[in-house]
Amino acid sequence: MSDVTTAAHIQPDRNLALDLVRVTEAAAIAAGQWVGRGDKNAADGAAVDAMRSFLSTVRFDGTVVIGEGEKDEAPMLFNGEKVGEGSGPACDVAVDPVDGTRLTALGMNNALAVLAVTERGAMFDPSAVFYMEKLVTGPEAADLVDLRLPVAQNLHLIAKAKGVKTSQLTVAVLDRPRHQGLIEEIRAAGARTKFILDGDVAAAIAACRPGTGVDAMMGTGGTPEGIVAACAIKTLGGVIQGRLAPQDDKERATAADAGHDPSRILGTGDLVRSDNCYFAATGITDGDLLRGVRYAKSTITTESLVMRSRSGTIRTVDGEHHLEKWDQYDPK
Ligand code: FBP
Repeated sequence: MSDVTTAAHIQPDRNLALDLVRVTEAAAIAAGQWVGRGDKNAADGAAVDAMRSFLSTVRFDGTVVIGEGEKDEAPMLFNGEKVGEGSGPACDVAVDPVDGTRLTALGMNNALAVLAVTERGAMFDPSAVFYMEKLVTGPEAADLVDLRLPVAQNLHLIAKAKGVKTSQLTVAVLDRPRHQGLIEEIRAAGARTKFILDGDVAAAIAACRPGTGVDAMMGTGGTPEGIVAACAIKTLGGVIQGRLAPQDDKERATAADAGHDPSRILGTGDLVRSDNCYFAATGITDGDLLRGVRYAKSTITTESLVMRSRSGTIRTVDGEHHLEKWDQYDPK
């Protein structure tokens, strides 16, 4: 049977991600009104409200399992919150209304509104362990790297799989004092670092996509962001490996009570145990991944990335929106 005949027999079905992109567009537009105003909670709050309101129009029975905001007690879509119109498929929902609240408040690059959805029960429950050590790289070395190996060894494996020298690799790392040792190891191995101020979901995507100039992401960041990134990587190919990084005895005890072994390496398939994942992201500020929200006299434009793992479809969606419809989000 030819490929064409096979394709003709595939019954097209609904791509939920195309509904979800309206939600991230709304969150980005709402947060976009707060770009550069120095108030990250207001930006986050506006994005949360818009996301909640637009989620209620999506035909699915969603439960937020990865909420955002507990870490700094920002306004949040809380874990366990029911979202969606209530009928249709039962789903786990991971929300990150603003990945890069500080970037948004300061008017700096790379802030995104992000949403990921998968089958009910498929997302890892981080149980109040807010940080995770992460290693992300694209498809070439996905089966070779191991977070337990020394940094230099992982970089050599990535370089070999990509057919380049280690000195040609660039590794995205959150710019944090805790990464001083990691940065020294990356540089000692001969690779370059690319510092990101915030927003490791965008960096994880960059590490998995060709032509971004980023070959890997390493270091410790938010566990929720790691699970969201895993949903995107299900479509992109590549790998995220994580190891929970409890910050104190209280978190260690919470993790133990929830049955987590902090030494366990969690792969993409542990962070999201389904191959039916939907992912949508819209740029809030301009970034390497997406253009940010732009305002003209009577329109607002957005740029979004929409992915579905089952079909492997990756779309870039340009949105043009009428300004007056979004007046409610204008801080005046
Ligand atoms: P927020 O926008 O929620 O503040 O998250 C931004 C972020 O940079 C994430 O992308 C990253 O995973 C996490 O914060 C890192 O945490 P910290 O800023 O505490 O190092």
